[in-house]
Amino acid sequence: MELPIFYDQREEWNNALLLYDAALKEINTKLEILNNEFKMAHQYNPIEHITSRIKTPQSIAKKLRHNDRELTVENIIKYINDVAGIRIICSFTSDIYRIADLIAKQSDVKVLKIKDYIMSPKENGYTSYHMIVSIPVFLSNRTVDTKVEIQIRTIAMDFWASLEHKIYYKFEGNAPEHIKKELKECSDIVSYLDQKMLSLNEEIRKCNINLEEQYQRELIENYKNVVAESFGTIVEEEEEPQPKEKPAAQKEEKSKKINKKGRKRFIFGMM
Ligand code: GTP
Ligand code: MG
Repeated sequence: MELPIFYDQREEWNNALLLYDAALKEINTKLEILNNEFKMAHQYNPIEHITSRIKTPQSIAKKLRHNDRELTVENIIKYINDVAGIRIICSFTSDIYRIADLIAKQSDVKVLKIKDYIMSPKENGYTSYHMIVSIPVFLSNRTVDTKVEIQIRTIAMDFWASLEHKIYYKFEGNAPEHIKKELKECSDIVSYLDQKMLSLNEEIRKCNINLEEQYQRELIENYKNVVAESFGTIVEEEEEPQPKEKPAAQKEEKSKKINKKGRKRFIFGMM
C-alpha cells in the first residue's frame, strides 16, 4: 500500500500496517474461538460471517483532508480510528449484544468508544453497533495497543447499509428526497423484520426445549416399562460355548457355577 507521504515516513507507515494487520488477526481469532465455543454449547452460530479490511490509502487521505489535517503517519494513527476494521454479521439482534459483550469482557481488549445506532438509529435510518477497541500487539521489543473498529449488525441491517452506501456515492451525498424517504422506509422494514425474526426464533427455541423435555420423559417411561417387565420374566441365557479340554480343577469349578445358576432359575421359577 503506497501513500503519498514523505520518504522518511515510509518505514513508519509500514510498521503501522504491520500492527493494524496483527490487531485484525488477533480479533479475528478471538471471534472464531467465541463462535466455535458458542456453537458447541448452543448448537448454533451467533456469527453469520466476518469481513475485515485495512482502509485504502485513498480513503485515509480523503478522511484526513476532510478533517483539515495534514497527511502524516502520526495523524493517521492518532485521528483515524478505522484504519483496521472488522464487520461482524449476525442473524439476530440479540446476537449483536451478546457478541459485543463477549468482546468487551476479554481482559486484553480495551473498549475505547461505543456507538449504538440500533438503540439510536441515524437520521437516514442507518442501524449498526460500533465499537472502537484497542488490543495489545506483542512485538519482539515492545507491546503496542492498536485500534480496531468493530461494526456488528444483522444480515438485514447490512443489506440496507450496502444499498445506502451505493446510493450515497452515486449521488455524492445529495440523493433526491424521494430516495432518502424510501430508504428510511426500508430501514423501518429492516427493524420490523429483525424483530419478527427474533421473536420467531425465540418461539422455535422454546418449542425445541419442549420437544426435548417430551423426548426425555418418553425415554424414562420406556425404560421403566422395560425394567418392570423384567421383574416377571425369565431371560434365557445363551448356551455357553463348549470349552476345550481343561485341567480337572477348572472343570470342577465350572460345574459348581452351572449348579448355582440352575438353582437361581429354579427359585425364580417357583415365584
Ligand atoms: P467515519 O464515519 O468513519 O468518519 O467515523 P465516525 O466517527 O463518524 O464513526 P461512525 O461510527 O459514525 O461510523 C463509522 C463507520 O460506520 C463508517 O465509516 C461507515 O462504514 C459506517 N457508517 C456510519 N454511518 C453510516 C451510514 O449512514 N451509512 C452507511 N452505509 N454506513 C455508515
Ligand atoms: Mg469508516
